[in-house]
Amino acid sequence: MPHPVVDAGRLLLQRSGVFYRQKHLLAIEGLEPPAISQLLDLAESYVLLNRSGKTQRDLLRGRTLINLFFEDSTRTRTSFELAGKRLGADVINMAVSSSSVNKGETLIDTAATLNAMHCDLLVVRHDQSGAPNLLAQIVDAAVINAGDGTREHPTQALLDALTIKRRKGRIAGLTVAICGDIAHSRVARSNIHLLTTMGCQVRVVGPPTLIPAEIADLGVTVFHQMAEGLAGADVVMMLRLQRERMSRGLVPSAREYFRFYGLDKAKLARAKPDAIVMHPGPMNRGVEIDSAVADDALHSVIKEQVEMGVAVRMAVLDILSQGHGRNEP
Ligand code: NCD
Repeated sequence: MPHPVVDAGRLLLQRSGVFYRQKHLLAIEGLEPPAISQLLDLAESYVLLNRSGKTQRDLLRGRTLINLFFEDSTRTRTSFELAGKRLGADVINMAVSSSSVNKGETLIDTAATLNAMHCDLLVVRHDQSGAPNLLAQIVDAAVINAGDGTREHPTQALLDALTIKRRKGRIAGLTVAICGDIAHSRVARSNIHLLTTMGCQVRVVGPPTLIPAEIADLGVTVFHQMAEGLAGADVVMMLRLQRERMSRGLVPSAREYFRFYGLDKAKLARAKPDAIVMHPGPMNRGVEIDSAVADDALHSVIKEQVEMGVAVRMAVLDILSQGHGRNEP
């Protein structure tokens, strides 16, 4: 069904030219501001479409999207599924636990099998950094990275940016504090790339064991105390302790961690009075965030992030399916 808002958004794309000219979406690193802005603008029109209760089912009719998740996911997988369905694609969720991967099939063999099925869009989550890049070299489909190891999670950074832009009216010039387990977080890395590219001052805050030394090379300022890291921040982004990626105990007990690094109202008071609180989920309440903050309608935009996730993924599927980068790497 044609829809005026999305049609206007896409018309704008046609007039200004498409700045996102890659076949795949593997990372935020390397994207230029115009490409990021254009994806966010298109996503914005999908927010309005979704809120109007209408769909755009003709756009991806006859196309196949496969969700290939080698790691657990609730939000990201359902959000891609919904985005694909709202655009009319045939969506298949491959449950890896019941697939041949558990019978010893390699990633490359799995990719070759999927390729033979003529899938158009392949959404991949994998615990190895770089796995989506490897797949992109083998399959004909456009590959979207839904999180690879500790490296990148590009659609999460885009949905975070859209949430920030809608709440704050801009991205450039804001001070964003990303707090917690930076070392194991692909969300942190993608956000650092996006937010620094778009002109934010980015701080990372956490215990020394969870902040890799080389992170400063990405143009962020490192803090080990919440009181200092949060002072005057416009955006406070909390991250989960990714214990499944820790080979040894890098943090004390959950109780002690919460005391020093858990976001509660007292620590949040250091940020600007109108600061927003974000979390990509899943949240561990009482560990990195207090329920009173997570559920505080005045500051928390955590539910809005989930809503923006669907719109951002629709925009990404839309742009990639237009095939502007078919002949480019
Ligand atoms: C994140 C992930 O998987 O990287 N979650 C998500 O996609 N919403 C963060 C996490 O697992 O803590």
